[in-house]
This record gives sequence, C-alpha cells and structure tokens, in this order.
Amino acid sequence: MKKVRKVVFPAAGFGTRFLPATKVIPKEMLAVVDKPIIQYGVEEALAAGCEQIIVITAHGKSAIEDHFDISHELETALEKRGKFELLELSRRISSMVDISYVRQKDAKGLGHAVLMAKDLVGDEPFAVILPDDVIDAPVPCLKQMMSVFERVQSSILATHKVEGPAISSYGVLDGDPIEPGSRIIDVRGMVEKPKMEEAPSKNAIIGRYILTPTIFELLEKITPGAGGELQLTDGIKGLLATEKVYGYNFEGTRYDAGDKFGMLTATVDFALKREDLGPRFREYLKGLKL
Ligand code: UTP
Repeated sequence: MKKVRKVVFPAAGFGTRFLPATKVIPKEMLAVVDKPIIQYGVEEALAAGCEQIIVITAHGKSAIEDHFDISHELETALEKRGKFELLELSRRISSMVDISYVRQKDAKGLGHAVLMAKDLVGDEPFAVILPDDVIDAPVPCLKQMMSVFERVQSSILATHKVEGPAISSYGVLDGDPIEPGSRIIDVRGMVEKPKMEEAPSKNAIIGRYILTPTIFELLEKITPGAGGELQLTDGIKGLLATEKVYGYNFEGTRYDAGDKFGMLTATVDFALKREDLGPRFREYLKGLKL
C-alpha cells in the first residue's frame, strides 16, 4: 500500500492577471482576508497528513521563503510590545513545516514546473496543490483525495461541476462515475478548454492532483501545448495510456484566487465566516444599495 507524503506547490508563474499587484509581490502571497493564499494550501497539505512540502519558485518570489521562515526582528518587536497572540501566530507559521524550494528558471508552464520536483519527489506518488485554488471544505480537499487514493492507488484529479459556458475555461474529464452517484470518476480522456457544446461532461479539473511518479517520464517528453506552455494535462493524457486515472468530485467550494473575481468572492465569503469580522461585515454588506 503506497502513501502520499510529499506535496508540490508550483508558484513560479508571473501572475499576470493580477498586475500591477504582482509586479513585485508573488501572486501566491496575496491575502484572502489576512492569510496569503499559499498558506491556505500548506495548511490543507498538513491537515491531509503530508510530511514534505516542495515549492517551485522563481526569481522575485523570495517573499514566499521569508513568509515560512523565522523573522527574528518581528518576533523581538512583538515580544517587546507584549503582543503575544501575534507572536504566537508568527511562530506558528515558521514552525509549521520544513519546506524545500526548487527554482524554475523559465516559466515554461505548469507541466515544466511539476517536472522541477522530480529529484525531490523520487519514485513515489505525490500530490500537487495549485496555491491559487483556495478551497473551503468540511474535510480538507486533499484529505478527501487521500482517502480515495487509499482505495484506488492510482492518479486522481480533483474536479468540480461547472455549468454553462464557463466550462470552456477548464480541462474537462471524459468518463463516468465508478458506480451510480459516486464522486469517483473512471477517466477515459480529457479535453482542454472545450466549447460548451463539445464538453464531454461538466467535470472540470481544478488545482489538486495526486500523481504517480510515471508522470515525470511523460513530462520530460511533452512539447509545448496550449498557450505555448508545457501543460501538466498533456502529461496526464500520456498517463492515461498506461495507467488508471480517476477524477474526484470533491466536497466543498473552490475559489480561483488567481483571478480577480475569484479573489473577491473568496474574500467576501471568508470574511463573513470570521467571528471577529463577520457580523460587522454582514451589516456593512446589508447596507449597500445594490
Ligand atoms: P497560472 O496559469 O494560474 O498562473 O498557474 P500564472 O501563469 O502565474 O498566472 P497568470 O495566468 O499569468 O495570471 C497556476 C499555478 O502554476 C504556477 C503558478 O505560479 C500558479 O501558482 N506556475 C505556472 C508555475 O509554477 N510555473 C509556470 O511556468 C506556470
């Protein structure tokens, strides 16, 4: 029985949809309320029992490394000012987990970013979390996927149902549930950004994957696909030819925080759920003349 111990966080992209904010600040460090989006992902990975985190980083992304490191200056200042709760918060982040970093020198695409983790992952199944997909779920999404992995011991792609023309922004699965009503889908194929009429299902792939190490050999061979980038989905299509791949319709809500609209909805929903902010923010929203 294989176990997933390592999670790869690709964080080397330019985040152009968030310019000018992302000219200097990594997209992965933009906050939903007061927490950088990558931290939501790291907490999810830890809640799923993962032991090693590998962040794919790039020039200009050192704020990510600093965020998960100890800040002696900040801690001394908070201690002197008697701000012990904030001190605890800062210490909790740096002691959360040890993270390894690998540089992707050129942002050649998500498939290339995942390939950068090959040596650190080695010959074992691993997970990929796209930090800009922030997920709010009763059981953390990756933990749900781990339970499915225990059962199927194969690659798993998280999906959610997308209605209408929005499906054309996603990779879409072709396949059926393994049994009526099941959240697990037996994948036959996948189509990248199909027209609504041509989409093989409503199951759109989102930013959580569990992959077998076979993916690395395939990623080494792929050529530039959509947008001239080395696409992870092209590697997974190769995987389908030799191994079982499953989709998993996770339970929860996914926000595309790499996109302005998704970031706004995440901010509103997360703020409303907060004990310290929610009641006041709800009153404010109620008062808006929309
Ligand atoms: P995105 O396509 O959403 O991110 O990739 P992007 O390219 O940074 O953003 P836009 O489209 O220009 O606004 C999803 C994740 O994959 C990482 C990104 O950092 C992001 O977290 N990524 C993407 C890499 O690590 N390397 C790449 O070459 C491309």
